[in-house]
Amino acid sequence: MPFAWTKDLELGIDEIDEQHRELFRRAERLYHAMRQGQPPAAEAMLASFRDFVLSHFEFEERWMRRVGFPGLEAHRKAHREFADRLHAVTGEYRRHGPVPAVADTLREWSEAWLLEHIGGPDRMLGNWAADNDAAPAR
Ligand SMILES: [Fe+2]
Ligand SMILES: [Fe+2]
Repeated sequence: MPFAWTKDLELGIDEIDEQHRELFRRAERLYHAMRQGQPPAAEAMLASFRDFVLSHFEFEERWMRRVGFPGLEAHRKAHREFADRLHAVTGEYRRHGPVPAVADTLREWSEAWLLEHIGGPDRMLGNWAADNDAAPAR
């Protein structure tokens, strides 16, 4: 199953874990809408995924800034690269529509990126926050 959530992705910080699960849910809905070639649904899911990705990135970056996380710049750069790539895939979608090739491209890189990012930089941030008693706040 694409974008299957597994327990080992949890960082033990409820608010962040819930946002990551929501990212997976929206990515999965987007993938299916694109795979099934439903333009209005795919368009709506693409916007919903993109909005959530950007607000999640902003949330983490605000958190890092507030608590003085030393890896902020590298982490932000990783977020920006994902956002840029998502923008490029959106362009591809606009040119070709919700065809299986676009759906599969989106799935392959975004799934790999999310797994790598949550398991890497996000986990490092979570560990650092736990060690420094620096929980996220709205
Ligand atoms: Fe992140
Ligand atoms: Fe994250």
